[in-house]
Amino acid sequence: MCGIIGYVGPGRASQVITDGLKRLEYRGYDSVGIAVRTGKGILDVRKDKGMVEEVSSALRFTTIDGNLGLGHTRWATHGAVCRENAHPHADCSGKIILAHNGVIENYKKIRDDLAAKGHKFASDTDSEVISHLFEENAKTQPLLKAFMRTIGQLEGSYAIVALSASDNEDRLLLARKNSPLVIGVGKGEMLCASDIPAMLKYTKTFVPLQEGDIAVVTRMGYKVYLHDGSEAIRKQITVDWNLDLAQKGGYPHFMLKEIMDQTHFVNESLATDVSEAKRLIEKYDRIDIIAAGTSYHAALMFAYLLQRTGKGAQAFVASDYPFIAKPDEKTLVIGISQSGETADVLQAFRYAKKSRKIALVNTMGSTITTLSDCVVYLNAGPEVGVAATKTFTSTLAVIFKIIYGKQSLAGVSRLIEAMLAQENEIRKLAQLLALKENAFFLGRGLNFPMAYEASHKFKEITYIHSEAYPGGELKHGALSLVCEGFPVIVLAPKDDSLQKLFGNIKEVKARGGVIYSVTDDKEVMAESAFHLDIPEGTDPILYPIALIVPLHLLAYHTSVLRGINPDRPRNLAKTVTVE
Ligand code: AGP
Repeated sequence: MCGIIGYVGPGRASQVITDGLKRLEYRGYDSVGIAVRTGKGILDVRKDKGMVEEVSSALRFTTIDGNLGLGHTRWATHGAVCRENAHPHADCSGKIILAHNGVIENYKKIRDDLAAKGHKFASDTDSEVISHLFEENAKTQPLLKAFMRTIGQLEGSYAIVALSASDNEDRLLLARKNSPLVIGVGKGEMLCASDIPAMLKYTKTFVPLQEGDIAVVTRMGYKVYLHDGSEAIRKQITVDWNLDLAQKGGYPHFMLKEIMDQTHFVNESLATDVSEAKRLIEKYDRIDIIAAGTSYHAALMFAYLLQRTGKGAQAFVASDYPFIAKPDEKTLVIGISQSGETADVLQAFRYAKKSRKIALVNTMGSTITTLSDCVVYLNAGPEVGVAATKTFTSTLAVIFKIIYGKQSLAGVSRLIEAMLAQENEIRKLAQLLALKENAFFLGRGLNFPMAYEASHKFKEITYIHSEAYPGGELKHGALSLVCEGFPVIVLAPKDDSLQKLFGNIKEVKARGGVIYSVTDDKEVMAESAFHLDIPEGTDPILYPIALIVPLHLLAYHTSVLRGINPDRPRNLAKTVTVE
């Protein structure tokens, strides 16, 4: 939920860090800060609430001299959004400084113990206790040992980058548990960050740290230690994401670029290997599929399709899974998470300790990959916009490849292109919806998960209150909300559920509701105030993609019309690494 970056090398730390913070901003953007060692025992720390662009120029981050430093963008968990609570956080001496992503669950006890020893706290955050605890331990032990002891005293989740201005060498001290942290291996310089795009300008070689790892990073290299102080070997990965993939490529927003990139990336996703996943699925009757948010809607689709093959498959909201299910050796657990860092999903995976696990994930080296028996990469490239779009379509493509086989999906890229070609029509529909306060999205059968996702995306970035309903459910309650002019978007492909859905359309219109549709059926078009067209002859197995691609674009254009930045919707973050 927060973004962290560190640098050590011959370069200007403040420039590298500021560049990286700008690329981390989608991870959390209510406050930002930087700390650079400008000389032996001297730190220059600048921080404030606000976005990276405004704070870094107001406080002139890049004017700071020095070759060792760290930075942080915050998504508040403990403590209000204010300057004092922005990271980095120092100890009493002002010599130790650190940035933290995660939640320290035992921070109150640590804070009380340290306050009793005279420590003075400048913030209300849980993170600040780490720097004071480190300071206390460093009174009686060498720095690295004190850092290791500090980490051993923490409960909860953390990605920590720390440094001491009094250290005898230029080095960063790192630790990670349940929150991502990756080392970037440069030439004569080293970086670290919460995720890869922040470092792509400087290197394509990375070392994802694993659960419980502690690392020391100097300009010449890195060493990784386990919590008992023994050294660990961690493999380097090289990614082929070049910088412009993580940039906007001329589009006004990352989200639009990522929607338009789908025609390309869906083919990359179809190239992923699903053979091991298929083999495991064939072996199990009970299959629990767990995910959160948009990925949960893909999980629902996956469960429906597996049920139609006779499997006992069920989708679970990850955060509820431990309170509902009792997975055992006979249960196959599938986690869907584009980031691979969603805390709810990781916790559900840890809960299902007796079960074999498959992960469908986009991010190489992410935590979920270390908890899985089988990993299926989405190959969708970096997704920077907070609202998931191409990673969702890629997840569907991978699911369809598992269920139907790749040969059935030959037309998927062309279909996406045909739906995106209606962008002008989609803009017109966005104009009809932009001033509405409410909206329903209806779908029946296999189309309901797409209605669920379309509504989720719509509300997420337009702030219009929208709900998704199975078409047949409306008359059981929600129909009471339908009144004159109430907008209802129906997902109405010509499949076996259309005739029933047609009845729901009539129910809505009889009460003054206005029908907008995505359809390939002439009668539905005739009932619609506005419709988007699914091409004649579309293969029904591809209907979910034909439905969701234009509805993601509809959410985007409606958001922009309402003066919202769809890349950074309020209150949200790209990766939710707290439960
Ligand atoms: C999607 O638009 C949202 N940003 C959010 O619901 C997201 O899908 C959810 O947090 C799960 O993320 P994951 O796929 O990385 O696990």
